[in-house]
Amino acid sequence: MTGLTRRGLGGIVGGVAGAAAGGLAAGPVSAAPKPRARGFPSGFAWGCATAAYQVEGAVNEDGRGQSIWDVFSHTPGKTQGGATGDVACDSYHRFGDDIGLLKDLGAKAYRFSVAWPRIFPEGRGQPNPKGVAYYDRLVDGLLAKGIEPYATLFHWDLPTALPDGWRARDTAKAFADYAGFMADKLSDRVERFMTLNEMKTFVDNGYAGGDHAPGLKLPAADVNQVRHHALLAHGLGVQAIRASARRRVQVGLAENPAVPIPAVETPENIAAARTAMRELNAGYLTAVLEGRYTDKYLKSLGAEAPRIEAGDMAAIGGALDFVGTNIYTGGYVEASDGPAGFKYLLPQRSHPRMVLPWLVVMPESLYWGPRLVSELWKPKALYITENGCAGDDMMIAGQVNDTDRLMYLRNYLSHLQRACAEGFPVKGYFLWSLMDNFEWGEGYSKRFGIHHTDYKTLKRTPKLSARWYADVIRSNALA
Ligand code: GCO
Repeated sequence: MTGLTRRGLGGIVGGVAGAAAGGLAAGPVSAAPKPRARGFPSGFAWGCATAAYQVEGAVNEDGRGQSIWDVFSHTPGKTQGGATGDVACDSYHRFGDDIGLLKDLGAKAYRFSVAWPRIFPEGRGQPNPKGVAYYDRLVDGLLAKGIEPYATLFHWDLPTALPDGWRARDTAKAFADYAGFMADKLSDRVERFMTLNEMKTFVDNGYAGGDHAPGLKLPAADVNQVRHHALLAHGLGVQAIRASARRRVQVGLAENPAVPIPAVETPENIAAARTAMRELNAGYLTAVLEGRYTDKYLKSLGAEAPRIEAGDMAAIGGALDFVGTNIYTGGYVEASDGPAGFKYLLPQRSHPRMVLPWLVVMPESLYWGPRLVSELWKPKALYITENGCAGDDMMIAGQVNDTDRLMYLRNYLSHLQRACAEGFPVKGYFLWSLMDNFEWGEGYSKRFGIHHTDYKTLKRTPKLSARWYADVIRSNALA
């Protein structure tokens, strides 16, 4: 085949289409593993991530209380096609199947989230034993298959029973009580806990942008106070987990930082990226890892800065055992003489994106994220707690050959491998997501899974990317 011109490509596509009609062999993507150059550290925790509201369903079962996402998704016009998490992937009943998918991948770990309203239907007070029992079953099932459970304690499904939600400082204390309770219940079998998932998303989208639950568009001062309450919840949650755990556990968070990428890796641009990393994340990751708001951040807030009580920042900055980052994209920066010290280079409209406008393909983010976090804050350990992409994921003759996701994942992981090879303390990677699931405001229209979910039958089908990921895990290296 001479040259992959569009015509040549057309020939390939024509050929494949014909083959697809006859059903491509779904055999192993590669032969038996052989030592590969692009290896990952020994014991690297290869896993997949999901979240309660996105996969569990069973929203009115076994005593679960209502969450703000139940209300938001049932509010007309808030989600694509009026989709809700009422059924989702029905993982509440099919978690055994999910564990089977993980086992088939050879996954070492599974990052799931605990639904607060299943544990405390009223947000606090009387716990719901049936809710706890579900997570006991899930954790025991994972351990029985040799898969390490990583528990996120909050992935956005806030109990509606908590008055004013994150606008109330008391919600931070309610979260700490819940987190401590779950640590007591699971720490004999769960060693790694994340407090909150993506404060940046649930605060900025839920209380400023209005496109996430609870769908508010508050004035800046109120949003800054909500942000402070979320940070405080994280800090008090870390203390509560440590105080209630039945053994020494590891505690961290899963945040989605803005990841600056030096457009050209010159010393000046790298220094600018470091500055950008601190300041662009000043309201979240920087505040947690430094126990303070940066001067520039507070100056930028002025009179709209949050009310900070004595002890808050010390709690927020409590030492962590690991830092989890959800990294999907980034942004190119260059050094600048301007007051910020860096300038952000807006991506061209032609820059490849993965179905969603925000998902700009920037694989270097999986190198620069770990490097900048390590150089700025020297964490004991780092996990990529989420990375992945949406795709069209057409199913042809029972197969989803998601070559675009393969391209995305192989490129991103090649940059993560660079970070590992250079000695940054990356200990694991959680692919988002194990299966197609409820993608918040996008409903079920955007598929992020490496397993296809048929939302009528709830059948899970491995995509090409699942076969590829199993190969990476098996060889602990990239090919
Ligand atoms: C997030 C959430 C996930 C999303 C995923 C794709 O990071 O936004 O943790 O729930 O589904 O990131 O957008």
